[in-house]
Amino acid sequence: MNKISIQNYSLQYSDGTESLRNISLEIPANQITVVFGPAGGGKSSLLRVLNRLNDLADVIHQEGNVYLDSVDILSNKLDVINLRRQVGMVFARPVVLPFSIRQNLTYGLEVAGEKDTERLNYAVENSLHKAALWEEVKDRLDDPAIALSGGQQQRLCLARVLALEPEVILLDEPTSGLDPISTGKVEASLQDLKRDYTIILVPHSVQQAARTADLAVFLLQGELVETARGEVMFTNPQDQRTEDYIQGRFG
Ligand SMILES: Nc1ncnc2c1ncn2[C@@H]1O[C@H](COP(=O)(O)OP(=O)(O)OP(=O)(O)O)[C@@H](O)[C@H]1O
Ligand SMILES: [Mg+2]
Repeated sequence: MNKISIQNYSLQYSDGTESLRNISLEIPANQITVVFGPAGGGKSSLLRVLNRLNDLADVIHQEGNVYLDSVDILSNKLDVINLRRQVGMVFARPVVLPFSIRQNLTYGLEVAGEKDTERLNYAVENSLHKAALWEEVKDRLDDPAIALSGGQQQRLCLARVLALEPEVILLDEPTSGLDPISTGKVEASLQDLKRDYTIILVPHSVQQAARTADLAVFLLQGELVETARGEVMFTNPQDQRTEDYIQGRFG
């Protein structure tokens, strides 16, 4: 089943940049969809469309349709706060809050009105398990989050998103600053998480794209060049431009 449907979507920023051009894409539920391609191709812009973060950018024109389940998420009547709970985002550089590990995870729920200590404790433990961080931090939940390593902070940011129980998780180069071991942990937790979530990942390398993609989407200068199952895309791409990029001939 498809979770998100993007239909003939185009986006133009006020400096004239046409960062997405007539994109049509069906994003399946409970799989990892990887959006990859050279810098400036529109990957982050596409992710930001999906939780309306582009509302904060200087957009002069957009057209087309984007549906989450069957809800039109571009509608100006949409409850954007609610959308962002359903569609969580993890960025390249982890930004932990200047609180304890525990408070980083309860903050969003408390803002949303949750006061029940038992439910908050459950959310802390459950989200840390899902982000593959529990074992490393369970004995120091009240330590400042900033004392964690970069890889741990990144998983804490993932846990913070998971604590809000989203349906879709957007990850924009979530392992770009991480060592291979931390990267491996994040990739492994994504494989578990896809049972419960729809995951859209901008990878930090072609290798990561090939390792993680159920569905792979190649974006080049705002254009969707090719969409294919991961195992097909990285062994037998149909478009010469995809093949050149995968082979490292440009980008
Ligand atoms: N807020 C903005 N205002 C104006 N132009 C923008 C904005 N954000 C992105 N752009 C432009 O849109 C195009 C696509 O940018 P985007 O960040 O989506 O690409 P990307 O594929 O994520 O690149 P990278 O791999 O470097 O992260 C670029 O030309 C960029 O300069
Ligand atoms: Mg980007």
